[in-house]
Amino acid sequence: MSFVAPERLETERLVLRSWRVGEGAALSEAVNASIDHLRPWMPWAQQPQDVARSEEVIRGSVARWLLAQDFVLAVWDRDEARVIGGSGFHLRHGALELGIAEIGMWIRSDVAGQGLGQEALHALTRWGFSAWPWRRLVWRCDVDNHASRRVAEACGYHLEGIARQDQRAVRGGGYRDTATYALLRP
Ligand SMILES: CC(C)(COP(=O)(O)OP(=O)(O)OC[C@H]1O[C@@H](n2cnc3c(N)ncnc32)[C@H](O)[C@@H]1OP(=O)(O)O)[C@@H](O)C(=O)NCCC(=O)NCCS
Repeated sequence: MSFVAPERLETERLVLRSWRVGEGAALSEAVNASIDHLRPWMPWAQQPQDVARSEEVIRGSVARWLLAQDFVLAVWDRDEARVIGGSGFHLRHGALELGIAEIGMWIRSDVAGQGLGQEALHALTRWGFSAWPWRRLVWRCDVDNHASRRVAEACGYHLEGIARQDQRAVRGGGYRDTATYALLRP
């Protein structure tokens, strides 16, 4: 394994970078401040997350980053004073060598709807097809998650299909339909 993952990306309003040990309090604050906004869509955000749990999550992310198993990114404001959300290149479709990453994202509720998700995804897409070895980037979401779908579409991702009842819905007790969007390396 010779690939050394780049660790930092700056956009007009954001800094996206790998998590660091000791940032559990900042993550916990952001998740808990946004829990009602995250709960319908994110399986891991059903309950508030205390600092110890957030720190455990971060340490797991750091470990998997070093092993090139998963690349979880913190989204900070430009001063790196406040966590704005989370993202990452996730190896959900195969190992690094396959060249497929799925991008996940959440943006804290008090700044949602200000274009930050689109700003982050635009920048991640450019970065993913330059400094990273991805040849296919994937964005998947519940068909009813209109904000998420809009972000993918605004960034030029192609809707490849809708898989019916392919996953347990986070909301309610049933199943969800999942929209798959993707872009290939130009
Ligand atoms: C989805 C999410 C990451 C988007 O981030 P964001 O910073 O709010 O996104 P943006 O402001 O860049 O864009 C949101 C777009 O969705 C639109 N939108 C928001 N809510 C909507 C709704 N209920 N129906 C239709 N469109 C909606 C906005 O109008 C905007 O589109 P526009 O720029 O064309 O007006 C964020 O809302 C979030 O964290 N949601 C909860 C977690 C989640 O669902 N993550 C994605 C899992 S796949």
